[in-house]
Amino acid sequence: MIRVRVPATAANLGPGFDAVGLALRLHNTLELWDAPEPAVDVAGEGDDTLPRDPSHLAYRAAAAVVERAGRGLGRRQPAAFGIRQRNQIPLARGLGSSAAAIVGGAVAANELLGGPLDQQALLDLAAELEGHPDNVAPALLGGLVVCAGTPGGVRALRVAPPPMPLVAAIPDFRVSTAEARRLLPRSVPFADAAFNVGRAALLVAALREGRSDLLGAATEDRLHQPYRAALVPGLADVFAAARNAGADGVVLSGSGPTVLAFGSAPGIAPAMVEAFWRAGVRCRTVAIQVDNDGAVVETAA
Ligand code: HSE
Repeated sequence: MIRVRVPATAANLGPGFDAVGLALRLHNTLELWDAPEPAVDVAGEGDDTLPRDPSHLAYRAAAAVVERAGRGLGRRQPAAFGIRQRNQIPLARGLGSSAAAIVGGAVAANELLGGPLDQQALLDLAAELEGHPDNVAPALLGGLVVCAGTPGGVRALRVAPPPMPLVAAIPDFRVSTAEARRLLPRSVPFADAAFNVGRAALLVAALREGRSDLLGAATEDRLHQPYRAALVPGLADVFAAARNAGADGVVLSGSGPTVLAFGSAPGIAPAMVEAFWRAGVRCRTVAIQVDNDGAVVETAA
């Protein structure tokens, strides 16, 4: 049995749409073993909705590793997998729960099969299953990850940022990433693209150097957050409330609805709760740190 721990992730971080992601210390644990027939069990977040059959994302990722490793597996090719997932990452809140399932299933199956795929092949496979790389890359590698999909595969670079406190406000409703992507325009004004290029570059440099004083400007975005505000009641007010309470920068985590504030001022969490509440949204808040480990194989047998 293989046990893998995988972190939550916040993609985009404001201006870095599909290109920047941060791993967070909130984890799912996945156990996987060679089984005579498929068996899937889920406990914790999503246990009311996630499938208990091979359509589960972690199972599909494990099966994709077998397929990609191909004939080279020989007699090690398992008949089926057993999978048990214990989830702390809430579903469809912009915290990378699907990326965690994919990366967990892929890394565990690869370990069980003796490592036929290298890290680049795992990253490419996970990004293909997810459809964009900026959650699976930090889930796999940990830390702050900058990534780009190319015809030759995902190019990703991990940066270990200095410790930085964050506060996540997690609303009690779900947003589907597919729906949040459908809201985006087919093209944007050149000025908006240029606005984001500078801020995305500044964001990565500022996080790398621990320059929290730059995060106010570096988290501004014109490519996706303004369009997605329609899915998250009170979003602009929550951003303003967090900033007024001392947050250095505020972003929509992935495609939302979670809002992530950079900072540790004690007033940030209650200010976000109150602003969401005024918009009719209940949320919980959690003080959270960056995960620098990525996907970790805890038990291999
Ligand atoms: N970059 C993706 C998006 C992340 O914004 O659609 C989704 O979590």
